[in-house]
Amino acid sequence: MDKRTEEEKLMEHEYDGIRELDNYMPRWYVLALYASFIFCVGYLIYYHVMGGPTQEQEYEMEIAAAPKAVKQDIVTDTALKPLTDAASIDAGGKLFVAHTCSACHSANLGGLVGPNLTDEFWIHGCDYKAVMTNVSTGFPQKGMMPYGNSKPMNQIELQQLVSFIFSKKGSNPTPAKAIDKVREVKCVAK
Ligand code: HEC
Repeated sequence: MDKRTEEEKLMEHEYDGIRELDNYMPRWYVLALYASFIFCVGYLIYYHVMGGPTQEQEYEMEIAAAPKAVKQDIVTDTALKPLTDAASIDAGGKLFVAHTCSACHSANLGGLVGPNLTDEFWIHGCDYKAVMTNVSTGFPQKGMMPYGNSKPMNQIELQQLVSFIFSKKGSNPTPAKAIDKVREVKCVAK
């Protein structure tokens, strides 16, 4: 505690009749200052002496690790076939809206931010299993989160959703997003 009286703390100088008290800085402030000294020693040694990664290298490492973290085949049953019954297609259509797919791929699936899902040109593969996997992992670097808006779906829902997309194959919606000639390739489902 500061035991000095106001008289003792009073400083010499005076401006417009106002005089200052020489108060100590608050304890927390001084401690934070000392803590930053201690931190900076470790920081200096790690990054400037031992060659710790630069921000750029850390960024590269995170980017390299990202696809491994999210890319995994969640569909293990290779014999799966698209569902064709009206109830499943209907449920899939509802999921397409509920999971905000329509916001980026348009309600008519013709594409907006995301590509057209009704034509035969695909970037990431067009077979049932591939599309199910792509929907579950998303393309975070391109703005598409897993399951569209990150809310997980179970495999049945995933099947209904992708079956709904497949039911719109060749529907030629207007308006539709133009094909990306560089990245999209003609794809025939296996
Ligand atoms: C925020 C925008 C956004 C949302 C929401 C979104 N997507 Fe996408 N989607 C994209 C973009 C952008 C791409 C293109 C990725 C690329 O360029 O590699 C894409 C790609 C795809 C692909 C691969 C297309 C191809 O040509 O291989 C499929 C399939 C797909 N999305 C389905 C869905 C489904 C189903 C949903 C909802 C669960 C959804 N998307 C939600 C933006 C979105």
